[in-house]
Amino acid sequence: MTDISPIDRIFCAIDTPKLDDALLLADLLSGEVGAIKLGKEFFTAHGPNGVRKVADLGHSIFLDLKYHDIPNTVAGAVGAANRLSCTVLTVHASGGPAMLKAAADASADAGAKRPKILAVTVLTSLDNDDLAAVGQTGPAEEQVLRLARLARDSGIDGIVCSPQEVSLLRGEIGDQIALVVPGVRPEWAGADDQKRVMTPGEAVAAGADHLVIGRPITRSDDPVGAARRIVDELSKVTA
Ligand code: C5P
Repeated sequence: MTDISPIDRIFCAIDTPKLDDALLLADLLSGEVGAIKLGKEFFTAHGPNGVRKVADLGHSIFLDLKYHDIPNTVAGAVGAANRLSCTVLTVHASGGPAMLKAAADASADAGAKRPKILAVTVLTSLDNDDLAAVGQTGPAEEQVLRLARLARDSGIDGIVCSPQEVSLLRGEIGDQIALVVPGVRPEWAGADDQKRVMTPGEAVAAGADHLVIGRPITRSDDPVGAARRIVDELSKVTA
């Protein structure tokens, strides 16, 4: 099992367009989670200044903007994220090998502090019919594997995948690539709109390196207590 501390395994998704709410939560969670994931909702509302405000509370930033564009544009976006000192960024693996390599190369320009680049394969909201509608044949699982191999071979650091894909991907693409998994729910939390969930312990035991967890922490009456319960659960798995 990879040697990552339980706190560092948790990437807490703060999904809100409200700056004050995000900063309040981020402040509470300082030192309690490995990174804060900010996505399109937050970034479109508050931009780089909003990101800096969260980072200034002592957090590593996982900027989840899922870049997908021509290589030159993605390289420029990654370069801008380097200057924001983000630690994790996302791209769509379906952007192709040149785009993936351009993202990896642009992150390398930041040297030792370079952000890790994660690739999204097939969005979990898409089923086989949706893939067929955009001209992609074959089961979603095959496309996930194809894109994961492509990402690995293009110098990408990790893959965002569902808990159900972890064992398959770990077996097929090896140990050198990080697997980052949303759709995680502790026993004591509701599923919300997530359909196929695993507990934090199950996901790590299956081979996940990091867990993206939002509402079980952010919508809890006691976000710090919720984060600590998850850390506690993970301490038992990794012991
Ligand atoms: O609140 P919850 O724990 O469900 O949040 C999960 C986070 O992971 C959200 O930011 C969501 O957008 C993201 N995500 C996901 N499923 C994917 C990819 C990303 O839930 N397949």
